Amino acid sequence: MRFETIAIHAGSEVDELTGAIAPPIHLSTTFERSADGETPRGFSYIRDGNPTQERLETALAAIDSGQAALVFASGMAAVTAVLQAMPPGSHVLLPDDCYYAIRALGTEFASRWGLTVSVVDMASFASAERAITPATRLVWIESPSNPLMKVVDIEAIVKLAHARGALAVVDGTFATPVLQRPIELGADVVLHSSTKYLGGHSDVQGGALAFARRDELFERVERARLLTGGVASPFNSWLVMRGIRSLAARMRVHSENASAVAEFLSAHARVAEVFYPGLPSHPGHEVARRQMSACGGMLSFLVEGGREEALAVAGRTRLFTRATSLGGVESLIEHRASSEGPASKTPPNLLRLSVGLEHPDDLVADLREALG
Ligand SMILES: Cc1ncc(COP(=O)(O)O)c(C=O)c1O
Repeated sequence: MRFETIAIHAGSEVDELTGAIAPPIHLSTTFERSADGETPRGFSYIRDGNPTQERLETALAAIDSGQAALVFASGMAAVTAVLQAMPPGSHVLLPDDCYYAIRALGTEFASRWGLTVSVVDMASFASAERAITPATRLVWIESPSNPLMKVVDIEAIVKLAHARGALAVVDGTFATPVLQRPIELGADVVLHSSTKYLGGHSDVQGGALAFARRDELFERVERARLLTGGVASPFNSWLVMRGIRSLAARMRVHSENASAVAEFLSAHARVAEVFYPGLPSHPGHEVARRQMSACGGMLSFLVEGGREEALAVAGRTRLFTRATSLGGVESLIEHRASSEGPASKTPPNLLRLSVGLEHPDDLVADLREALG
C-alpha cells in the first residue's frame, strides 16, 4: 500500500462496539482487571498505555516504516526519554543547528544523567567523524534543521554511527514521514514534535518516537516514559491521529507554497540569503533530493541589514502572523533569535517562515509588501 492510503487507514479501524468511523476517545484513567488479577484487554492504567494512544502508536509506526512507536506529551518529553534511556557514561553527539531546547537539554541537563555531550556540524561528514569517540552511544540528526535548514546526509551519518557502535536518532519534525522516512535510510529512531505538522492545526501538543525495531532500546524508552510520566493524553492522541489522516495532502501544498515563497525571496533585493533545500543554490540540495520527496513548508531567510530591519519586515506582514511554532494551516513569521533568547546563535537578521496552506500568490504578495 502507498503512503497516503496507510496514513488514512492505519490505526483507524472501525470501532467494533459501535461501528463508528471516527475513532473513539477513551478518557478512562483505569481499566478493569480480571478475577485472577490479570489485564485481559491489555490495559491497566492510563500512564502505562490506553486504547486511543495505542491507535496513534499503530498509525505512527506504520507511516514511519517502524516496528513500534511511543507517543509523548510533547516533542521535548520524547527527546528527554531518549536521553534518559542512554546508559550513564554515554557520549552524545548533537548537531550545531537544531531546535534550541534540545541543545539546551544536552548542555544543561545531560550531565546530571551521567551523559557527556559534544556539538558538531552534522551536515559535514568529516566534522561528525572527527567528533565521534569510543564512548559515543548516540548520534542526533535533525534534518532539515531548525532554523538554518541544514540538510544532513542521513544514510551516511547513520552508517558512521553504526560503524562506531552508536545509535542514530533523526528528528524529522520539519519533513514528516510524508517527505522523509529515516528508518528506511537505516536510522534506529525517528522523533517528531507532533505539535507541528502531524497535528497540523496549531491546537495540540505532542511528541512521537518511531522505532526501527521493538527491541531493548524501545523497552528502555518505554520504561523511562512510564516512570517519568511524559505520556500523551488520550485527547491529544486523538487530535494527532486526526491530523495524520490529512498529512499527505497538506504536506504537498505546504511544499508547493514554500517553493513559491523561496523563489520569490531569493530574487528580492532586500533578501541577503534564503535557506530552503528545494533551491538548487542550497548546499544540501542534492542530498535533499535523494532523501526527501519534497522539501516541506519551512524556510528561513536573512534580511539585508540587522536585527532592526528583520523585525521591521516581520512587523509589516498581514497574512503571516508573528508567532513561534510551525506546521499549522496558517502561515507564521518569526524573528527566531528573539524566541531562542540570549543564548541564541541564530543570525539576528534571520526570519523563519512556516508557510501555510493559503494561496501562494497571497503569501508572496504579503511578503512583497512587507519587504517594501
Ligand atoms: C525540530 C523540533 N524538534 C523538537 C521540538 C520540540 O517539540 P515540542 O515543542 O512539541 O516539545 C521542536 C519544537 O519547536 C522542533 O521544532
